[in-house]
Amino acid sequence: MMKGIVFTENGVEVSDELEVAAPGPKQVKVNVMAAGVCHSDVSVINGTIPWKPPAVLGHEGAGIVAEVGSEVTSVKPGDHVVIATLANCGVCRACSSGHPTWCMRSLGNVSQPFTYKGQPASNFAAVSVFVESTIISEIQAIKIPDDVPFASACLIGCGVLTGVGAVLNRAKVRPGETAAVFGVGGIGLNVIQGLDIAGATRIVGVDMLASKEGLAREFGATDFIDASKEDAVARIHELIPMNSESAAGALSPFGGVTYSFDCVGHAAVLRNALDVLDWGGTAVAIGIPPQGTEVGVDINALAYVDRTLMGCRYGSARPHQDVPLMVDLYRSGKLKLDELVTMKRPIDGFQEIIDAMHEGKVARGVLEIGAL
Ligand SMILES: NC(=O)c1ccc[n+]([C@@H]2O[C@H](COP(=O)([O-])OP(=O)(O)OC[C@H]3O[C@@H](n4cnc5c(N)ncnc54)[C@H](O)[C@@H]3O)[C@@H](O)[C@H]2O)c1
Ligand SMILES: [Zn+2]
Ligand SMILES: [Zn+2]
Repeated sequence: MMKGIVFTENGVEVSDELEVAAPGPKQVKVNVMAAGVCHSDVSVINGTIPWKPPAVLGHEGAGIVAEVGSEVTSVKPGDHVVIATLANCGVCRACSSGHPTWCMRSLGNVSQPFTYKGQPASNFAAVSVFVESTIISEIQAIKIPDDVPFASACLIGCGVLTGVGAVLNRAKVRPGETAAVFGVGGIGLNVIQGLDIAGATRIVGVDMLASKEGLAREFGATDFIDASKEDAVARIHELIPMNSESAAGALSPFGGVTYSFDCVGHAAVLRNALDVLDWGGTAVAIGIPPQGTEVGVDINALAYVDRTLMGCRYGSARPHQDVPLMVDLYRSGKLKLDELVTMKRPIDGFQEIIDAMHEGKVARGVLEIGAL
């Protein structure tokens, strides 16, 4: 029997009545050492992301390979790994063209490697890392050097790939661009540091909590707006002024940022992200609202001046390229990982991390699971 966080019909519970299967031929069993709590786990618990219980939560993890299936060649027991959430097939057209997030096998790929109180229990996001041991596909195990602390490495598994990847892989931000980042949580902070790495010269962080300003600036924001006190759209247009001289100004004013990122997952926030764009600007939807949520947009504001609305899943990551890249950026001092870990708890402290997240007290909370 082992311990983990289970999403059940009655909510969420810390259970020590879990078991995990042995790895299949192409699978890897990982002893999870550390796991970050991403809002997507919270969204399963509160119903925003529909998921069938019972399921073991957690999808941002790192650990040590415990056992490998007979056909596994790329990792061996004892290897330190970051776990990617994409159980992509590796051979389809999407995978072959460098877009594993478009692989049909990479979404809704649910299996039941666990039992909970003797009954089959599902994984979450093809991963499940709020548990002592988990089973993943070989392609999801990405070897990292032994000297990267697990509490920092685990964050690469979702928050870092998602945030930094949205900037570098999806938006492809160039030096000198300007940006607004709505939601300064685990994802937003990584978007901010991705923008800094990309050479953006103006990075405006926006949150409903004034307490997020310090973190936003530490990660590279040049400005911060407390959207609970002021109108973020008007304020951004003051910071990066509109040019009213153009005849087209009335139709579609220019000025504002060249990129904006919704790291909240709310229709009004995404609308704000569109409304702060300069001509030619691009809004990136990262946050995940309840299914069926729609946003209204003035089509002319897009069509006349080349504005773009794009979605981005998992930072459009190619995990076997991007995880080593994040490790290199971390080791060269360009990517902050240790600073993201502002709270560590054992599995039993899960609820404390959730509460701190809601109070805006953490950059990322990490569960320390295994011991070396
Ligand atoms: N697209 C993807 O692949 C992907 C991957 C990971 C997470 N996500 C989603 O990204 C979102 C953010 O996740 P996170 O882990 O950073 O969450 P988080 O809880 O750490 O941070 C959310 C932040 O948004 C702020 N916020 C809330 N309402 C706001 C508003 N109206 N305006 C401005 N700020 C507001 C909160 O105060 C908090 O600081 C979630 O919806 C999550 O499901 C998407
Ligand atoms: Zn996540
Ligand atoms: Zn594929």
